[in-house]
Amino acid sequence: MRLSEYELCSSSDGSFTLYSKHYGECYHSLKDGALKEALAKHVTPAFELVQKPHVRILDICFGLGFNTLATLYHIQADSRIERVEIFTPELDQLLLKGLLDFPYPRELEPFRPILHELIHQGRYEDDRVRIELYIGDAREYVHHLEAIDIVYQDPFSPKKNPILWTVEYFEDLYRAMSGDGVLTTYSVATPVRLGLDEAGFLLYEMPAREVRPGTIAAKGPLPLKPIDMEAKRRRTSAKALRDDAVVDPTYNLRHSDGQT
Ligand SMILES: C[S@@+](CC[C@H](N)C(=O)[O-])C[C@H]1O[C@@H](n2cnc3c(N)ncnc32)[C@H](O)[C@@H]1O
Repeated sequence: MRLSEYELCSSSDGSFTLYSKHYGECYHSLKDGALKEALAKHVTPAFELVQKPHVRILDICFGLGFNTLATLYHIQADSRIERVEIFTPELDQLLLKGLLDFPYPRELEPFRPILHELIHQGRYEDDRVRIELYIGDAREYVHHLEAIDIVYQDPFSPKKNPILWTVEYFEDLYRAMSGDGVLTTYSVATPVRLGLDEAGFLLYEMPAREVRPGTIAAKGPLPLKPIDMEAKRRRTSAKALRDDAVVDPTYNLRHSDGQT
């Protein structure tokens, strides 16, 4: 791990994460815990809502790979899931190389050989799992995807990486998702919820667990508490983010060699 770009941080559940000097933000919530966040904000609620034998997941973005690896951890104990396909973009090749010796929590350690194969080959496949790690821009990548059942919407914050939180981007996700697809995100920000709503999603409160709850978005009705977006719109002057109005701090990354 090149310490000049990233700093190793300990989070509340004992798992380690990184702080990115480029974005000025941690890859996970130190308060919730990196592993707990992956499981409680993304993997567990998504698999409770999507009960299919064959599940296609879009993990935005790979980062340290916690959401992808926590998915493998989760499905170990669920024999109803016959096949999982994970599609995950990541811009930062320097980060990916550094992950080969990252101190993952005990629960994710068994998947280190899969991580190695992903980083070296960009793909992994066995009888039950297929993973594609796309080195490049998530905005480009989503155009090539379809019939996605679960989206883990887990970029850096809207303040730090707004291009992955705009209405236009959410519209692309909407098109890439199956009719009963769900999206999980840690964000509860009003501009984010307005953007998801404008893109056509129905919004729900994430059931409270041991972590601070986020938002769940879906194309169709879910057995969760809906968020009243009509009332929200009446009460706020906040606006959804749009491509032409955001400054994109990753522009140089997205149009160069993918290194931070
Ligand atoms: C908060 S981290 C993701 C954390 C990850 N889910 C995990 O569990 O470790 C956000 C990641 O998005 C990547 N990223 C930022 N903009 C991107 C883009 N336009 N396309 C692909 N990856 C991007 C960053 O390099 C960073 O690794």
